[in-house]
Amino acid sequence: MDINGASAIVTGGASGMGAATSRLLAENGVKVVIADLNADKGEVLAKEIDGVFAPCNVTESDEVAAAVAAAKELGPVRVCVNCAGIGWAQRTIGKDGTPHDIGAFNTVLQVNVVGTFNGIRLAAQAMAETEPLADNERGAIVNTSSAAAFDGQIGQASYSASKGAIVGMTLPIARDLAAVGVRINTIAPGLVDTPLLGLLPDPQKKALGETVLFPKRLATPEEFAHLALELITNSYMNGETIRMDGGIRMQPK
Ligand SMILES: NC(=O)c1ccc[n+]([C@@H]2O[C@H](COP(=O)([O-])OP(=O)(O)OC[C@H]3O[C@@H](n4cnc5c(N)ncnc54)[C@H](O)[C@@H]3O)[C@@H](O)[C@H]2O)c1
Repeated sequence: MDINGASAIVTGGASGMGAATSRLLAENGVKVVIADLNADKGEVLAKEIDGVFAPCNVTESDEVAAAVAAAKELGPVRVCVNCAGIGWAQRTIGKDGTPHDIGAFNTVLQVNVVGTFNGIRLAAQAMAETEPLADNERGAIVNTSSAAAFDGQIGQASYSASKGAIVGMTLPIARDLAAVGVRINTIAPGLVDTPLLGLLPDPQKKALGETVLFPKRLATPEEFAHLALELITNSYMNGETIRMDGGIRMQPK
């Protein structure tokens, strides 16, 4: 799919994998709307890539709709990358017998599942209104799951449930959106060196990298961005979830 001159919405685009993807899309001629909670980082990046920052909590439909409307101003909306996500670590029953905080479980599902679906449904609506390209193609969506969708570790009940839901929704949404020429794929990253992991001291990062099959290091956000770009531009990629994890299979802890 030719994306030059098109517009994109990248949720969670102010940091980590979303930021790397926003940069790569801009390098490829796409006008990017960075839809994120973090205005400080979002504004700076938007200036750097000649894009637009849209303050946005992905769980708020009005705010996502406003980000999509901003993209429509920049060109035909053909790309949506959903990177906004949060983690939470808590055992189902703690060592002291306390059950998992149900509010926290709900919040993780709201942001990671409902937020991702909000990006999908509102971007898809805008894509469906565009002129079709070759093969009646109108746009492509990429979601961010996690290796934790498949081998979630101790304490990852809420996170794994949310990332598994993103895997689960990928095929039915591909089937829904085929009628309007929109594709959707999901990336399930392993361990990626983003600000999310950046708080860890270097020796701990190195030790985590050693747990990867090959190469023995954390992934870079740019490696995610390149895979996202391939999934967007390769018109035959649809309805798939791809692990990008150096072959790691996470242990219980
Ligand atoms: N870093 C990893 O090892 C790793 C591995 C697998 C999956 N992931 C997933 O990748 C995605 C990107 O994570 P990252 O590592 O780049 O983290 P990050 O913290 O660098 O970036 C996440 C961005 O999402 C934004 N965000 C969070 N909640 C939001 C909300 N409700 N509305 C709008 N924006 C919101 C944050 O402000 C931040 O800019 C997340 O979904 C994460 O779960 C990360």
